[in-house]
Amino acid sequence: MTARYAVIGNPVAHSKSPQIHAEFARQTGQDIAYDRLPAPLDAFVATARRFFDEGGLGLNVTLPFKREAWSMVDAHAGGALAAEAVNTIKVEGDRLVGYNTDGKGLVTDLQNNLGVQVRDRRVLLMGAGGATYGVMQPLLEQRPALLVVANRTPDKAVALVGHFRQLAQLTPGGVAAKSYAELSDAQFDLVINATSAGLSGEMPPLPDTVFAQGAMAYDMVYGTDTPFLAFARSHGASVADGLGMLVEQAAESFYIWRGKRPLTAPVIAKLRSGM
Ligand code: ATR
Repeated sequence: MTARYAVIGNPVAHSKSPQIHAEFARQTGQDIAYDRLPAPLDAFVATARRFFDEGGLGLNVTLPFKREAWSMVDAHAGGALAAEAVNTIKVEGDRLVGYNTDGKGLVTDLQNNLGVQVRDRRVLLMGAGGATYGVMQPLLEQRPALLVVANRTPDKAVALVGHFRQLAQLTPGGVAAKSYAELSDAQFDLVINATSAGLSGEMPPLPDTVFAQGAMAYDMVYGTDTPFLAFARSHGASVADGLGMLVEQAAESFYIWRGKRPLTAPVIAKLRSGM
């Protein structure tokens, strides 16, 4: 019998997840159906429950429901506990288990697709919203030299760093919260944009001097050349958007659900060429 999965969100019409999972299923010979499941803003839980009551085996959860998904599930696994956000739900017996594959997706994209090691690098992470919470633990587990979280509203960065303080020992230089103004004499090997600024054609107020020699700039937003990536390019950094992260987090979800690891490179290439 065809196993049913879906991506739930609002809006969800433009999600690329159905195409990505269809490619994974074709590659690995899995008999699955993967749909888009739009949920009213005030009815995430009811919509998700109906899907599972009708036999659905798993959901990807996208904006703005990742925190509600975290509260809804019966158990957390795979980094979801610390992230306080769930992007993958799996039916396991009579329980719903929530995972977060976003951070793994980012790290896999950096390391396997872009050849960028996080270990021993000075990392700047911009933003202190859900996207940042989702990637903190997997980034710290790579043991960067240090991790700085910068945010327009500095209090939110301070709260985030406090939330992850037990993981700060993973990095010799520690984890610090800063305002953008405080970055004027710091240089980083990896600068990751986890803000939503690019979606409105803006970028965080970064100093010109932020990129170390050979630095990589990574924007989690995909499909558009954001002002941050243009800025980074003009300051000599190499750049990447978040398309690889999107495909890698999907591959991790697919593995959680189906126990099969699809090849991601051909799917990334296909999406880049317009699929
Ligand atoms: P998400 O869950 O996608 O992370 P969010 O919780 O709304 O979304 O967080 C958006 C992040 O982008 C925040 O860190 C926000 O900064 P503030 O906390 O100061 O609001 C950041 N952000 C959005 N637009 C920005 C801009 N133009 N410049 C700098 N940061 C911006």
